[in-house]
Parts: sequence; C-alpha cells; structure tokens
Amino acid sequence: MVGIDIESATRFKNWSEQNLNRVFSKTEICYAKKFKNFYEHLAGFYCVKEALVKALNNKTLKFNEIEVLHTQTGKPYVSLNQQIKSQLSLSNFNEIEISISHSQGFAVAVVLLNKTKEK
Ligand SMILES: CC(C)(COP(=O)(O)OP(=O)(O)OC[C@H]1O[C@@H](n2cnc3c(N)ncnc32)[C@H](O)[C@@H]1OP(=O)(O)O)[C@@H](O)C(=O)NCCC(=O)NCCS
Repeated sequence: MVGIDIESATRFKNWSEQNLNRVFSKTEICYAKKFKNFYEHLAGFYCVKEALVKALNNKTLKFNEIEVLHTQTGKPYVSLNQQIKSQLSLSNFNEIEISISHSQGFAVAVVLLNKTKEK
C-alpha cells in the first residue's frame, strides 16, 4: 500500500509551541532545529504522518504516535507506537519505507507499506 502528501512550510509558521508539541515529537523538533529551513523539515515529517494515514486507510491514527527518525546517514524512518505496530502486523505489513523531499517552502513524502516476505 502507498500514501503520499504535500505540505507548505508556511502552514506551520503560525503554530504555537503547544500545537507543534502536540503533533511533533521532541526528537523531530530538535532535528528540524538544526536546519535553517526548520519549517520545511517539519512539513516533511507532517507529510509522512499524513501519507501513513492514507497508506493504512486509518484516520484514527494520532500524529504524535508516528515519529520520524533518521539513521546515521540521514535516511528517514518511522517509529510507531505498539497499537499501530499491532494493526500493521494484523494486516501482514511488516515494513514501512518512507522518502521525504523539500524545496522552496514545500515538502512531500511517500510512504510504502510492504508485506511480510515468504520464507
Ligand atoms: C541525501 C540527498 C539525496 C538529499 O537530497 P536533496 O535534494 O539535498 O534534499 P531533499 O529535500 O530532496 O531531501 C531531503 C530529505 O532526504 C532524506 N534523506 C537524507 N539523507 C538520506 C539518505 N541517506 N537516504 C535516504 N533519504 C535521505 C531526508 O528525509 C531529508 O529530509 P529531512 O532531513 O527533513 O528528513 C542529497 O543531500 C545527497 O546526498 N545527494 C547525493 C550526493 C550528491 O550531492 N551528489 C552531488 C554530485 S554533483
């Protein structure tokens, strides 16, 4: 299954700190603060959350239960709470791949849910 989303960074510029903390984790905010284009990075993480909702076809997911983290090389990946993980394994999806891009005030992300490979 697949999901995609696009967001403008300006959407987040007027958000209060409280609102930002409701949607983004401390780690996500801390990561984005390392860059000049803070809001573009946040917009990218938001896109991942929206794209995952689309891929899973589940609008009840809470965005603070989906966290975007990065490997040492900068590759993004998602960390999910136990409830979403259980939902994924019930539907036989065990791997989530994401890709983020941003430019000129916009961010996009694609999420792919892959089925467990047969051994
Ligand atoms: C990693 C790279 C592909 C990002 O591309 P970019 O056009 O600079 O930036 P984009 O906006 O498209 O992508 C940024 C996102 O890429 C993702 N990313 C970073 N490193 C990554 C990696 N190793 N693997 C997968 N995704 C990666 C991140 O999610 C990042 O967004 P985030 O930091 O907010 O999470 C780029 O910096 C790079 O290393 N390019 C190849 C090397 C190169 O520059 N060669 C030039 C030859 S002239």
